[in-house]
Amino acid sequence: MSHDPIDLPSDPSDPSDPSDLTDVTGPARPIRRKEHQVPELPAGVTPARVRTFVRRGRLSSLTRDRVERLGPARSLPEGRFDAAAFGRTAPLVLEIGCGHGHAAIAYAAAFPEHDILAMDVHTPGLARMLADADDAGVPNLRVEIGDAVLFLEQQVSDATFEAVHLFFPDPWRKQKHTKRRFVSPGNLDLLARVLKPGGHVLVATDQDFYAEHVLAEVAAHPRFEARRVERPAWRPGDGFEAKGIAAGRNINELRLDLLP
Ligand SMILES: C[S@@+](CC[C@H](N)C(=O)[O-])C[C@H]1O[C@@H](n2cnc3c(N)ncnc32)[C@H](O)[C@@H]1O
Repeated sequence: MSHDPIDLPSDPSDPSDPSDLTDVTGPARPIRRKEHQVPELPAGVTPARVRTFVRRGRLSSLTRDRVERLGPARSLPEGRFDAAAFGRTAPLVLEIGCGHGHAAIAYAAAFPEHDILAMDVHTPGLARMLADADDAGVPNLRVEIGDAVLFLEQQVSDATFEAVHLFFPDPWRKQKHTKRRFVSPGNLDLLARVLKPGGHVLVATDQDFYAEHVLAEVAAHPRFEARRVERPAWRPGDGFEAKGIAAGRNINELRLDLLP
């Protein structure tokens, strides 16, 4: 089964549905954050542009509660992104489309000497992530709700991130939706700009056609070189990876290295 976004967290049989989780409370961190709002459509998402995601419906009270209670401690200050938000200077990683955030939390736990910023437009997934992150501790994880493309375009300076993670992006299978695929010439330009020299992008997908799409886009792009790599040992094997394997699909692990 494809995991085009229309089928995603709205699936009531999905065991990872955020509505089945218990809330977790935790101490607020003493960093001044922007007022955390809980938008139906995340701030910065303009309806008119070609989006790589699907807008969803209203938020549950559990989601609102989690975002309001746990969001401020992990959100970024308003305005232009500044890595100082993490309170130290450390290698900085961005995960785009983190969903429920298992990979980002695992990365933060496995690499406490790094900082990771996890982004998604899907507020219920991020709310669940906030609860799980609170359980895990991981002070080196920050969370941003919104369209990563707009965020990178408008708020991020050149040469900011050591690495960008894109795990199981919405594949947008249909030909008429090709423009919605995250890996595109414009977004590769954007990633090339915000990566530090020597930086890289990790992509995982259980859709062979999407892996071929990535390889073709990168082959045509002057700033990246792609290769197949081993699965990162720190990444949890649940979620789309497990579903893909259960359905008999191959997991494609790609690394895109930024060229000088
Ligand atoms: C198929 S899900 C995968 C989620 C997660 N990486 C995982 O493996 O469980 C793709 C996610 O990317 C998010 N997404 C798509 N385009 C995005 C964008 N431009 N900015 C932020 N998130 C985006 C969607 O909301 C969705 O949660």
